[in-house]
Amino acid sequence: MERRRWLMLLLMACLFVGSTGRGFRIKHTVESAAYNHTLATILVEYASAVYMSDLTELFTWTCSRCDGLTKGFEVLELVVDVQSCLQAFVGVADDLDAIVIAFRGTQETSIQNWIEDLFWKQLDFDYPGCTDAKVHHGFFNAYNNTIMRSGILDGVNRAKEIYGDLKVMVTGHSMGGAMAAFCGLDLAHIYGSKNVQVMTFGQPRIGNAAFASYYSEHVPNTFRVTHEHDMVPHLPPYYRYFPEKTYHHFPREVWLYNVGFGFLIYEVEKICDGSGEDPECSRSVSGNSISDHLSYFGVEMGCDTSSKCRIVMAPTLASYGNVDNNGNFALSRLPSKFILKMKTEPGVNNTNHRVY
Ligand SMILES: *[C@@H]1O[C@H](CO)[C@@H](O)[C@H](O)[C@H]1NC(C)=O
Ligand SMILES: *[C@@H]1O[C@H](CO)[C@@H](O)[C@H](O)[C@H]1NC(C)=O
Ligand SMILES: *[C@@H]1O[C@H](CO)[C@@H](O)[C@H](O)[C@H]1NC(C)=O
Repeated sequence: MERRRWLMLLLMACLFVGSTGRGFRIKHTVESAAYNHTLATILVEYASAVYMSDLTELFTWTCSRCDGLTKGFEVLELVVDVQSCLQAFVGVADDLDAIVIAFRGTQETSIQNWIEDLFWKQLDFDYPGCTDAKVHHGFFNAYNNTIMRSGILDGVNRAKEIYGDLKVMVTGHSMGGAMAAFCGLDLAHIYGSKNVQVMTFGQPRIGNAAFASYYSEHVPNTFRVTHEHDMVPHLPPYYRYFPEKTYHHFPREVWLYNVGFGFLIYEVEKICDGSGEDPECSRSVSGNSISDHLSYFGVEMGCDTSSKCRIVMAPTLASYGNVDNNGNFALSRLPSKFILKMKTEPGVNNTNHRVY
């Protein structure tokens, strides 16, 4: 462990030397037609809420983070992989006129250890359906080969059955952002690129340059928000001298940083170029902060407790879901408004909808 820590510091020093020289310049925010600041400040609250460990409160949208700009959200599916400690929900946001999916980031005891491990993630998996596209198997499998994928797809199908053809917005912070990206790409294949939007916060790199261009072709409506010196978007490392071989972010980054004039500090939101690796955005500074990773738009990200994977569930909740042999489960429900409608409108037959 000591040796690894030392190597990491060395690597960080190299990366820092490699990225200085450009200096830290203040740039005016470039307006982009597609980036929507208001939407970002709403989605970040979903990405924050999915960390909550009390599943009853999350399911009924009464948790302490289930308020503010996300008030009135209806969770339709809550998916929990107990072994891998993964958590996500699917629901409908009336005000956004959209299905919202949020993935929780890592819940390891030490975020520091999790971040250090990111240095060593290999591009070891060929992304199916695209030549030369490589990703990290762990990020991909966390979405595709756990209960996550089937649970999410069930939830989205059900939402579309009930509400018709809503667009889908996928979000997540940190490792949850990585899963959100794989989910968005999967959904774009199923529902078409136009109907899927992805917005991630403090997301690590997940694949190489070939994957990045494949991704952005299929999910063009994607924003990857980064914050100041947040370490995670700098990882796994990008080596600009080996562009074919290394990890490469997909576009489009939006970098949040502070500009201070005396006592006044402004947060600037910079829309970055279409390369995915804009040297004038987060790459223009060293990624050395964990606290910048844990706060986006002033919203607290990360766990609500310092404990590792913890699941709090009232026994009555179990009646909403099925638990598989490994203890993983997906809880499903119909929105309360819909149930109300069912009850008050005679003649409507809802036996086609699954209610656990
Ligand atoms: C930005 O998103 C908000 C929330 O969805 C929406 O009300 C607003 O109309 C959007 N603005 C633009 C310019 O699309
Ligand atoms: C992704 O998951 C689906 C089932 O959910 C499976 O059919 C497919 O083979 C998986 N893809 C890979 C590359 O593992
Ligand atoms: C609802 O539909 C199912 C099959 O589609 C049928 O068996 C059932 O009798 C129907 N119930 C009512 C109340 O119409």
